[in-house]
Amino acid sequence: MEVKEVKISYTVYSTIEELPKEEQLLLEKARIAAKSAYAPYSAFNVGAALLLENGIIVTGNNQENAAYPSGLCAERVAMFAASSQYPDVPMKMIAITANTEKFEINFPVPPCGSCRQVMSEYESRQNQPIKVILMGAKGDIQVIESISGLLPFMFHAEELKQK
Ligand code: THU
Repeated sequence: MEVKEVKISYTVYSTIEELPKEEQLLLEKARIAAKSAYAPYSAFNVGAALLLENGIIVTGNNQENAAYPSGLCAERVAMFAASSQYPDVPMKMIAITANTEKFEINFPVPPCGSCRQVMSEYESRQNQPIKVILMGAKGDIQVIESISGLLPFMFHAEELKQK
């Protein structure tokens, strides 16, 4: 028997001004994207802004549907849009934020498991890390250097092959 350990590290900033300019801009774009989320059922507006290596920023927001499971999270809307429009351009970093009229989100909002799986596959496919920047409507900002830190036991394409 052997006990193994997985460790992740992340950086916490208490103000936006402490972040590098590029990250600040990306968070701002995510915030703007959240404003046009289609979230009439949850009233939880999520925005994602994805910076590509060519400098282009692709944004996304959650798109809900009366048939609830048919909706999609902001992160996947942004990632799928980027991958469909710029299939060969690596993704550098993604900023994710959320707000709701129901209460003040004063904590970073992490991506759901399905979004982590999707983001992880793009990251391993491009063979270079995608930085993740998380923030609520206010409060601390968390920066994780690679999506792999958010999903250490991801399901890989290799799992589909006989070993
Ligand atoms: N949502 C996202 O957009 N991203 C996540 O990672 C978690 C949840 C959306 C889905 C749904 O429209 C609303 O937030 C409430 O779950």
